Amino acid sequence: MTFELFKEKVRAGLGFDLDGYKEKQLLRRLHALMARRRVADYAAYYRLLASDPEAQREFIDYLTINVTEFFRDPHLFRYLEERVLPEMLAAKPQLRVWSAACANGAEPYSLAIILEELAPGRQHRIEATDLDPGILEVARAGRYPEDLLRHVSPARRRRFFRQEDGAWVVDDQIRRRVTFRVHDLLTHPYRTGYDLIVCRNVQIYFTREAQDRLNAGFVRALVPGGVLFVGASESIFNYREIGLEKVGTCFYRKVHKTHLRTEAR
Ligand SMILES: C[S@@+](CC[C@H](N)C(=O)[O-])C[C@H]1O[C@@H](n2cnc3c(N)ncnc32)[C@H](O)[C@@H]1O
Repeated sequence: MTFELFKEKVRAGLGFDLDGYKEKQLLRRLHALMARRRVADYAAYYRLLASDPEAQREFIDYLTINVTEFFRDPHLFRYLEERVLPEMLAAKPQLRVWSAACANGAEPYSLAIILEELAPGRQHRIEATDLDPGILEVARAGRYPEDLLRHVSPARRRRFFRQEDGAWVVDDQIRRRVTFRVHDLLTHPYRTGYDLIVCRNVQIYFTREAQDRLNAGFVRALVPGGVLFVGASESIFNYREIGLEKVGTCFYRKVHKTHLRTEAR
């Protein structure tokens, strides 16, 4: 079986679009997994994936690394907190937020903490999604080792976490604000009506075509004036073409239609 055929089978049989991932990285990881499982070729590995849920879980787990932490790139979270969100909250009391490819939940919980500080008690909706159901279980549990909290101040630790058996557990008031669900950015439809979409450190694994598809989807999913927050090493080159304006490093705002018309003239 060729690699092309393997990708087709995975798409048809398991529902994952491997074409969306950069090939070199994907092959490196795939071959490492095949060696670990001692399978000699793609056909044997596909048979294993199709018949063994554990091998499938491992495969999903391996597609991208799910390294993350609270307030990853603190200067960007500070910009969000000090410049982006206050303006949004002044215009709209309750925000709808999507943390896409949220990994173990450190990102959406960071967002919930900032929103609780800026606008206490308001019922914001934070939806957090990831391809990997296993990592979402970790996210729902909300228990983290010390090293993921290196950017969490002592004041925030006191207010939003408790310590339990050597782990830091996110407080219920914050946990309640976030809902988690499985979502594949490459194959599933996107919900709409978001004020803020945070999609960070996953597009780096995707091909340029897949990135373009994602960003166009995010623009459709945002309300006019809504903001897209991307990773520190990710930029959207064609942001103007797809109806965004840059409002800061890693922050793009969906242009209101009237602005678009003005620009086109
Ligand atoms: C490096 S983590 C990023 C976590 C967080 N956004 C951050 O920036 O710290 C990448 C995550 O992307 C997820 N992922 C990979 N492919 C995906 C896809 N097609 N759809 C949704 N999530 C995906 C992985 O499961 C992983 O949890």
